[in-house]
Amino acid sequence: MKSNSFGKYFGITAFGESHGPAIGVVIEDVRSGIRFPLEEIQKALNERKPGKNKFSSTRQEDDKLQVLSGVFEGKTTGMPICLVIYNNDARSKDYTHLKDIFRPSHADFSYFNKFKIYDYRGSGRASGRETISRVAASGLANDILGNVEISAYPVQIGKFSITKFDENFTNNLHWKDSTNFTKLTEYLAKIQQSGNSVGGIVEVKIKNLPIGLGDPVFEKLDANLAKAILSIGSVKGIEFGDGFQLAKMTGSEANDQMDKTGFRSNHSGGILGGISNGNEIIFRFVVKPTPSINISQKTVTKSGEETIFKAKGRHDTCIVLRILPVAKAMVKLVLVDAICHQKLISGENFNIVDYREALDKIDEDILIALARRKKISEKVKEFKQKNKIDIEDKNRENELISTLKEKANLWKINTEFIKNIWQLILENSKK
Ligand SMILES: Cc1cc2nc3c(=O)[nH]c(=O)nc-3n(C[C@H](O)[C@H](O)[C@H](O)COP(=O)(O)O)c2cc1C
Repeated sequence: MKSNSFGKYFGITAFGESHGPAIGVVIEDVRSGIRFPLEEIQKALNERKPGKNKFSSTRQEDDKLQVLSGVFEGKTTGMPICLVIYNNDARSKDYTHLKDIFRPSHADFSYFNKFKIYDYRGSGRASGRETISRVAASGLANDILGNVEISAYPVQIGKFSITKFDENFTNNLHWKDSTNFTKLTEYLAKIQQSGNSVGGIVEVKIKNLPIGLGDPVFEKLDANLAKAILSIGSVKGIEFGDGFQLAKMTGSEANDQMDKTGFRSNHSGGILGGISNGNEIIFRFVVKPTPSINISQKTVTKSGEETIFKAKGRHDTCIVLRILPVAKAMVKLVLVDAICHQKLISGENFNIVDYREALDKIDEDILIALARRKKISEKVKEFKQKNKIDIEDKNRENELISTLKEKANLWKINTEFIKNIWQLILENSKK
């Protein structure tokens, strides 16, 4: 079982530990000739890294993306793409105090019992740092997703909820409520000072998704999104549309009625029967409080003795503030797979990006053919000059154009257009 691999059509394999030399990802099945969005990926990695606000871990990493394979002159080569981000500020010594201890609510206990060996330094693969691979890989999905828009923002942090959503209110906590923002930052500062942590709820919206993504019965879009989001460390629950509120609603309240213009409500969150219905997809997920806290708590050692543990090292006060780009990355990976599958089964290309990619490829082929033609015609010119033959041969040119026009006619291409193009090509080849 490849438990560090994700995706069927856009397959990724993630690797690396928090305190190993690097974190990385291998992406296979990417066609050749696709623009490699280095800057976009770096931008997304910068969004994810710690230090974006004073409530995140103070680990200082530049998270600089390095491309080891699969990309040449800015384009994919069709070979496996290997992306790595080196760990420069691991400070493993900070973690020696938990060498023999299971941190409450972290992965230490279950990892150790399963694998009998555990990289306690920064939690190995159970570290938030692992999420770099997801963000890096998802950058390659952008062009396939076209105009699909994904937004993710906190709607609850600790005891604070969004009461008045203001899209235009910007701050480094991504908090969309100006009415309680100051109180929220004061609250987070207090939590941080006391060495404690808090959780929260993130809302995700997906706009411009076509109808028909997702498949019965084990490949439902909501099921795949749920798995992807729950695979992120510290996420403990997810709800779509009205979610858990649906329990107290009646059918007449919860149903999304329809008229000629479409759905009149979106209690289902844009997915019915596991398939996107053209409505905005909306879901929320809950993030638990960061397990490592600077507060003494009861736990046991590897040998089963009871002890008290108080975390040291650099930890996020609230993981919600770090998780937003990771959630978007996972959504992208799920959607890209669903889109690829849909294309395969329907045999239709409904994405303009694909058409554009195909056109770009054809234009490049035309350019390559023109360059080759020019080289050969230069050889012909040299031969003619050497053998004192006239460079211009009107008969041959007319013959060529007339043959091409015949073929163009057969292939339903405008013959005058073909004549004009080849007159230009022939003129150029004589220069
Ligand atoms: C982006 C991100 C940052 C995280 N930062 C921390 C951290 O600083 N300290 C910590 O103890 N856990 C942190 N976590 C959470 C742990 O990785 C997670 O709780 C642990 O792997 C156990 O998994 P579970 O909570 O899903 O059961 C972070 C998770 C993510 C996704």
